[in-house]
Amino acid sequence: MHVSKRLPSLRKTALALATGLAASLTLSSAQAGDVEVLHWWTSGGEARAANVLKELMEAEGHNWEDFAVAGGGGETAMTVLKSRAMSGNPPSAAQIKGPEIQEWGELGLLGNLDGVAEAQQWETLLPETVAEVMRHDGHYVAVPVNVHRVNWLWANPEVLDDAGVEMPTTLDELFAAAEPLREAGYIPLAHGGQAWQDATIFEDIVLATAGTDYYRRALVDLDPEALGGEPMIEALSTFKRLRTLMDDDMSGRDWNIATSMVIEGDAAMQLMGDWAKGEFTAAGLTAGEDYLCAPAPGTQDAFTFNIDSLAMFRVSDEGEREAQEDLARLVLEPTFQKAFNMAKGSIPARPDLDMSEFDSCAQQSLADFQRTADEGGLMPSMAHGMAVRAAVQGAIFDVVTNYFNDTDMEAEEAARRMVNTAQAAY
Ligand code: BGC
Repeated sequence: MHVSKRLPSLRKTALALATGLAASLTLSSAQAGDVEVLHWWTSGGEARAANVLKELMEAEGHNWEDFAVAGGGGETAMTVLKSRAMSGNPPSAAQIKGPEIQEWGELGLLGNLDGVAEAQQWETLLPETVAEVMRHDGHYVAVPVNVHRVNWLWANPEVLDDAGVEMPTTLDELFAAAEPLREAGYIPLAHGGQAWQDATIFEDIVLATAGTDYYRRALVDLDPEALGGEPMIEALSTFKRLRTLMDDDMSGRDWNIATSMVIEGDAAMQLMGDWAKGEFTAAGLTAGEDYLCAPAPGTQDAFTFNIDSLAMFRVSDEGEREAQEDLARLVLEPTFQKAFNMAKGSIPARPDLDMSEFDSCAQQSLADFQRTADEGGLMPSMAHGMAVRAAVQGAIFDVVTNYFNDTDMEAEEAARRMVNTAQAAY
């Protein structure tokens, strides 16, 4: 069962949180200049990236208190954050994304970054798609760290060569690659059976089979006709077919372990956002040579974006506030944007930086971001908290993962459940 179901939703706990906040303003344990940052960047590549920020903050004389909560996709981190906030002691900053920023803003718990935003000219520095996510009620409350693309396919070229297959560009090619890869002794697709990873590949399939407009209607606008329609049923069936490309031990496997199966040459490919590139980079591998990247098959016209951001909690201590402002400023400075994103696999949140030191996958990502923004294919990722609020996302995760793991459940039934649960959670 999805964790968020067991927890009270943010809205329902508003009162408790407000009471907690009153306590936090007097009980805050932070010393001047301390900045406690909650995040879930704990894999090899992620930790290297997080360390960039820690070092920059320390170089400015601040004390970085690392509050890392392991668990891909951040579900566990969000659970821990809710309980810290409810006890009146939120961290100074937390990795909070997309519409969830609005939920925390509505509770009155977030601080105001308008001063830094004005000094650094965020209005002109950031694309509006990015900037609007960072504002609550017209005020900046969070700073964007990066732009991740979710709809990627990663591959080990030696494994593909050995089996005589090309990097698939369509779903038909992906399914057709399975047999030669199996015959050559490889797992075609590395996957970790966790709800958020299932949802990550599910949204790729919706894009590939039903297209970007349908994706938006179903997974962003939650139009019941699209959520339960024939194209959704088809997408669900194709999604379940992906199981034929996976191995039997995938249940519960972390995403970075799946990436290491591609790195080690046990598996040929992985469908995963470009934080997977952080793992290839940490292993010293070169894009385009030691590993390949391409848009998830059939999704060349789409870019599912996932913007990591740090939201600041309202604090009373002046030193802590200054540390928050320094943190926000540093995050958007070129030094951080380059070093962090080269390690993390993402592209900078500000598009004005020289990308010549970035690898070929990152350069393609930026070009595709701009192209899809112009052509209408730039879509918020549902699986990564950019499209719908947490309760709806959790409800969709439950249906998707239960369907994927239940050999008896028909696609029609899953589509019906999707309509019902999305409406109930809304
Ligand atoms: C986050 C990434 C993170 C990934 C795996 C995503 O939701 O946006 O920063 O690397 O989850 O944990």
